[in-house]
Amino acid sequence: MTISKNKVTARAYTNIALIKYWGKVDQKLKIPTTSSLSLTLKDFYTDTSVLFNEKLLEDKITFNGQQLSEKKAERIVNFLDVVRDLAQQNVYAEVSTINKVPTSAGLASSASGFAALAASASKAIGLNLNKKDLSRLARRGSGSATRSIYGGFVEWEKGFSDETSYAVPFEEEVDWPINVVAVMVNQSEKQMSSSKGMQISVNTSPYYSAWEKVSKKALKEIKVAIKNRDFDRMGKIAEENAMQMHALTLSSSPDYTYFDADSLKVMNLVHSLRSSGLTCYFTMDAGPNVKILVEKQNTSKLVSELEKEFGSDKVIVTSAGPGIEYQ
Ligand code: PMV
Repeated sequence: MTISKNKVTARAYTNIALIKYWGKVDQKLKIPTTSSLSLTLKDFYTDTSVLFNEKLLEDKITFNGQQLSEKKAERIVNFLDVVRDLAQQNVYAEVSTINKVPTSAGLASSASGFAALAASASKAIGLNLNKKDLSRLARRGSGSATRSIYGGFVEWEKGFSDETSYAVPFEEEVDWPINVVAVMVNQSEKQMSSSKGMQISVNTSPYYSAWEKVSKKALKEIKVAIKNRDFDRMGKIAEENAMQMHALTLSSSPDYTYFDADSLKVMNLVHSLRSSGLTCYFTMDAGPNVKILVEKQNTSKLVSELEKEFGSDKVIVTSAGPGIEYQ
């Protein structure tokens, strides 16, 4: 194994889960309680460059051009330790990350961030990982990053160990004209991190075992809906699964929520547009911004309704994106 003398740059795209991951059986290895399924998105991505350098006395990490404080860099340094362990090397790295998520997006960037870091760091240190092992490695940074190795619809098979928990492509090339419309209702940092939130839910929500049961069934059903190009069915399953996940936060002790007043406004608008004949469905992650699934022929109508209510700077249209790319 030879450490690269040149920096290695990789790009990874974020993903939106249609069947959510919300809970771990193993904190350190990030083995989830349930399998999940997502769509990789093309307009939100992270570029990360890594160079391992014998001369460095510590890891040097910059994010959007700014050097990160020790506290903020901690999660990245911990991840680099996993990479060094795997490669049995003891060299520090220069890491520079640019997030091409629209500044106002507030979309989860840990998925694209850790997938791009896993790809660039593993290659820079001389590991030649296949996609399965890359997905396993990305998982150590952030659960949702496990899926961002692939494009299109991706399933993360929960497995039961480090070796068996990784993502597999469900449909990499998506020839289905669908859009995801993100509505950015609030950009401030969330109060409850996803990893803390999910642990509270696993430990305290009386509905947790029901969640494991229903999401297993929903995963099976959404795969059939996607294969059949049944947009209505896919959207309905995704919306219900999102609400079931958020019901875990509301039923935890202490209770918490990612809903903002405006998130509820978007959800109500989706319901009312749907009853007036515009087919669209929402989903929401561990933050107040809402993402809406819509077929391409209905996108402009949906966007104009959303812009009337929330303003055009809050509405971003995207679609299926690719997997990891090296530059
Ligand atoms: O991997 P994390 O810590 O970003 O958690 C992701 C959790 C959700 O985004 C809410 C669901 C998911 O499957 O991506």
